[in-house]
Amino acid sequence: MPGKSELDLAALDRIRKHELAELRARTPRSRNYFSRSRLAMPDGVPCSWMASFYPGMEIVADRGKGAYFTDIDGNRYLDMSQCDLSMSCGFGPDIIANAVSERFRNGSHFLLPTEDALAVCQLLTERFAMPAWRFTLSASSANLEAIRIARVFTGRDKVLSFGGKYHGHIDETLTVASPTGLVTDQKGLPRDIVNRTVEIPFNDIVAVKEALETRGIACVIAEPVMTNIGVIYPEDGYLNELRALTRITGTLLVIDETHTQVAHYGGFTRRWALEPDILTLGKSLGGGLPFGAYGMTEQIKDALERNAEPRVKYCQAIALGGTTYGNAINMAAARAALSEVLTEEAYRRVGKLGDALADGICSALRKFDLPWTTQRLGNRSGLFLSATQPRNAAEAQGALSKPFNLAQRAFMANRGIWEPIYIHGPSLSFAHEFKEVLTYLAAFDEWIALIVKNDTVRTS
Ligand SMILES: Cc1ncc(COP(=O)(O)O)c(C=O)c1O
Repeated sequence: MPGKSELDLAALDRIRKHELAELRARTPRSRNYFSRSRLAMPDGVPCSWMASFYPGMEIVADRGKGAYFTDIDGNRYLDMSQCDLSMSCGFGPDIIANAVSERFRNGSHFLLPTEDALAVCQLLTERFAMPAWRFTLSASSANLEAIRIARVFTGRDKVLSFGGKYHGHIDETLTVASPTGLVTDQKGLPRDIVNRTVEIPFNDIVAVKEALETRGIACVIAEPVMTNIGVIYPEDGYLNELRALTRITGTLLVIDETHTQVAHYGGFTRRWALEPDILTLGKSLGGGLPFGAYGMTEQIKDALERNAEPRVKYCQAIALGGTTYGNAINMAAARAALSEVLTEEAYRRVGKLGDALADGICSALRKFDLPWTTQRLGNRSGLFLSATQPRNAAEAQGALSKPFNLAQRAFMANRGIWEPIYIHGPSLSFAHEFKEVLTYLAAFDEWIALIVKNDTVRTS
């Protein structure tokens, strides 16, 4: 049964190098830019991810419209990544562009609420059923504030998360369980952060019970379906048991729907009637501008109001807020996005396209006799190099291959398709249509044919 271990890494590397050489030949202006930008920014980019996500692919973006963007050499790409699901409204939807430019002309921030803020809360409550909201500028900071609130609410310090998770660049969720114990996932974190975090495998309710019974955990933070290590679904009853155990042990449950809300209107909180204490959101709900938000129960809202003394020295308010959080222009963009682009009908339409994408990927695998598994999550698909769906991060790691993805991405870029990083599968924005699904599937078919023809994967 061909799986990750049957991949010929040397052959994949040869394909990748060949495709990268072709890509470089098509992007002379981008190369020229990088020769200058390396002097001004580490690795020539304004954010480290712009280099680390795309090794060997030095491309400078020029403009985007709908489902496509072009680079400064004039090459056009069908966007199957949406900047890690932060651009799911598509590039430059007119309705959001108009709302943003009008708001900007009339003042983009006042450090006071605007009428749009209340409208955004009402729109969010309609879909996610949380009664009250606060805003940040990223999902990372929404999660950070949720953790701080949980600490105050419970009087405990520790945060429990699940192997393979990503909840943003915050210390508490950047630790990982390793064979030698809990370690920091990246450099620059305080070493003792491992004493304030706990990581256990997803879908293991016994491990949840053991961890929560210590009564030392302030909150569990979880995606309802894991999305940062491929797509991993919870087993039947798992999330209900998790909710019950958090309640019994006085632990807060933070559900992070930053990614999953793109898959379904109201996310899985609505679909599965989850009852988080705090629901965190971000990315595409801001319509293409930086955005973060969290919904809370009445109880949490009361706690925030009780702990919100004015900002004076030695006060005991919860450490929340930021100078530009909840600003007028963000609220205008989110209002336009939620009311005009991210409608229930639009989610249904894009969900059907997502099914067609997953069906097409599945057909290509069958056509070439590859017994791999297709990922399915609303607007998003992808594949696992295994015959069964992983239940947790360890199994998913065994079914994902970075070298495979790097070669595929270089190949697809030369065919005008921009693929996501290896832990994510291709996804569709609200600007995609059926013809874009067909374009992607035609190139994907060509890719699978190539790797089978080159014996990159042994199928017998
Ligand atoms: C589930 C989840 N939560 C939070 C974040 C953090 O989002 P941001 O980088 O916009 O802060 C991410 C980013 O990928 C994410 O996948």
